[in-house]
This record gives sequence, structure tokens and C-alpha cells, in this order.
Amino acid sequence: MAEDESLEITRKAVKKWKDKRGSLIMALHEIQGMYGYIPWEHAKVVAEEMGVALARIYEVLTFYNFFKLESPGKYIISLCDGTACHIKGSSSVLQAFSDALKIKAGETTPDKLFHLQVVRCLGCCGLAPVVVVNGKTYGRVSPADVPAIIQEWREKEAGVQESKDNQKQTEQGAA
Ligand code: FES
Repeated sequence: MAEDESLEITRKAVKKWKDKRGSLIMALHEIQGMYGYIPWEHAKVVAEEMGVALARIYEVLTFYNFFKLESPGKYIISLCDGTACHIKGSSSVLQAFSDALKIKAGETTPDKLFHLQVVRCLGCCGLAPVVVVNGKTYGRVSPADVPAIIQEWREKEAGVQESKDNQKQTEQGAA
């Protein structure tokens, strides 16, 4: 899922809470449920949709300890357990992630690389069971797919580290 797509999901979630009592807190709560924290780009969407100043949102986010402004892990694995995903076996997918990463839902691996969380409907029930990792959507996920998903992100991380090392070497070479 591209960044735009995830912002669209946030926009939809916010619209649902608009004009309801305690809507701002509830909308923020839902966003944190989806991403594990409140990404700043998404806070801006809340401000736009609810007609609230961004400064007010910042005030709310910093007032309540519950809200996090920083990601609990580098790669956030959001596993949907909405009705459609639940029926199609999201529990066994969750178990597979838990077993592979040795963490439970709501926890982060000790190296802070992966954070695993269960979320409500992500709005693409036709693809159930759905998993989203840092904005990329995986549909019709089975427990057997889990090792490959984790491997994909581990490789991505290795690539990030490698390019950082290369950059360092280039800088050192130039010095
Ligand atoms: S129930 Fe999982 S995407 Fe809707």
C-alpha cells in the first residue's frame, strides 16, 4: 500500500468519527490502533478533516500518555482481525507471526525492528486475511506466507544498513 493509500484509509477512519462526541480522541485512538503510533502526516489529515488546528492535535497527543508520536518499532506489522479477516483465519496468521518473532500482539522485538499489532478492519475485506507492514498490504495471507513476509523486511533492513555502510565508506574515502 502506497503512502497515499494509507492516508486515504486514515481519512476514511476520521470521517467516521466526525460530528460524534469525543470524536477527536476516538479518531486518534483509531489511527494509533492502525499504525501503532500517530504518524505526523496522519495527524495532519485529522486536522484537515475535523477542521481542528494542528496545534490543538499536538496538545492532545502530548497531554495523553497513551498516544505515541514515535513508532514503537521500525517495521509495524498490523494484522487485521475485523470480522472478514477473523472468519478467514487471522488468528492462525497472528500465531505464525508470534511464533516467528517470539513476541505477542502489542509487543516489539528486542532489537526494535518489528512491532506486532492487531487492528480492526483496514477497509479491504475482499483480501482477507489482511496484513499491512509499514503501509504495504498483503492479502489472503496464510500462516505459510509469514516467514517470507518477515524475510522480505529483514532483507530490506539489510539493504538499508548496507547502503549506510557504503555511504560511510564513500565519505571516508573522500575525506
Ligand atoms: S475485516 Fe480485515 S480488512 Fe476488513
